Amino acid sequence: MPDQQKFQSSVLSPHNSLLITGGAGFIGANFVHYWVKKYPQDKVVVLDALTYAGNKANLTGLENHPGFHFVHGDIRDYDLALSLLQENQIDTIVHFAAESHVDRSIHGPDAFVDTNIMGTHTLLKAAKTTWLDKSSSALSPQSSPFRFHHISTDEVYGSLGPDDPGFSETTAYAPNSPYASSKAGSDFLVRAYYKTYGLPMTISNCSNNYGPYQHPEKLIPLLILNCLEGKPLPIYGDGLNIRDWLYVEDHCRGIDLILKKGRIGETYNIGGNCEKTNLEVVHAVCAILDELQPLSSQSSVHSPQTSSFNSYSSLITHIKDRPGHDRRYAIDATKITGELVYAPVESFESGMRKTVGWYLENLEWCKTVMGENYQEWIEQNYS
Ligand code: NAD
Ligand code: TYD
Repeated sequence: MPDQQKFQSSVLSPHNSLLITGGAGFIGANFVHYWVKKYPQDKVVVLDALTYAGNKANLTGLENHPGFHFVHGDIRDYDLALSLLQENQIDTIVHFAAESHVDRSIHGPDAFVDTNIMGTHTLLKAAKTTWLDKSSSALSPQSSPFRFHHISTDEVYGSLGPDDPGFSETTAYAPNSPYASSKAGSDFLVRAYYKTYGLPMTISNCSNNYGPYQHPEKLIPLLILNCLEGKPLPIYGDGLNIRDWLYVEDHCRGIDLILKKGRIGETYNIGGNCEKTNLEVVHAVCAILDELQPLSSQSSVHSPQTSSFNSYSSLITHIKDRPGHDRRYAIDATKITGELVYAPVESFESGMRKTVGWYLENLEWCKTVMGENYQEWIEQNYS
């Protein structure tokens, strides 16, 4: 069957065919599990380069799902992207793949520009070729059966003062780290492909996620694992930087709503309505662990710092601040709340309990994803 005809039939299909980039990473994997459970009839193709942050173990359990396919590949590979879109009759791209760790972007910004800007542009070109240039239908973006949904971050808006209102969709971009700047660049490209070529797109900018499958070098898993090993809990500067914490499944629900009901060409901010200082976060993690895994019961935790204390919070260690460390992020979620009737389900307390519980039950997973590269990186940054 010629490509064009195959394509037209997918438009009539009652089910969707999704390409999920970065689906072996933290949020992507949570989204794949969420989607396959909620929409089992859909086809889900995951494209992931399996960098240090991506792991097939994050997708365990999906191997035998009939609509699920994993492709080990790079979003910067135009021919691969094109063939995946065409052969799988993809109608929806959910684009998570990125270099995502601010600290890594400070030490090595090149990969951030390559993947986040060039990679996003490669995907946009492939989507344009497949959905617009090869399509005979002259549908407006608003009535198109296709969708490019781009996952972005609140970090593109820069840093807030203590009394500033939260970031809204009209807040001017002011990214401060190489990571945030590369995400801002990718957001602008997605916007340009809509404005210039009519590519049907939506963007979501969300706050800090936490939950299962987050790589152990990010703040919350790092705190949990260091507690269990009796290692210092490294807190940058005074620990009073504020983030708006969002449980990852609540983020997935928000993306689902945008895909199903969001307006083409629009950006939606997704937040947890949950501003916490880093010190509040570390104390919350320690309090849950003090209850679930008391220090007295942990024969493995014998460090000079814990021997005379009975709380993991004794491990808190203030270290040199991150350069350009944004002081405060907060999301004004009025748009998605009102227009798409979105609200996070988890409170900080319930989400954090689920998260700590998940890591305690999945220590084997932690070992699997912490390869040599991770150890090397930790030694460079925290020793
Ligand atoms: P992550 O680092 O855990 O996962 C990124 C995934 O992308 C990994 O599986 C990795 O292998 C893959 N990847 C990287 N480069 C690739 C390439 N060139 N080709 C194909 N795959 C590649 O990231 P995450 O925390 O899950 O974040 C997902 C998205 O959400 C990112 O776009 C990030 O900017 C955004 N975001 C994350 C947060 C957060 O708190 N984690 C907050 C706001 C926005
Ligand atoms: P991070 O997870 O890197 O997210 P962000 O992109 O918001 O910077 O860090 C969350 C916050 O925790 C941020 O203010 C930096 C801080 N942090 C520490 O204090 N120590 C650490 O070891 C890490 C990884 C982060």
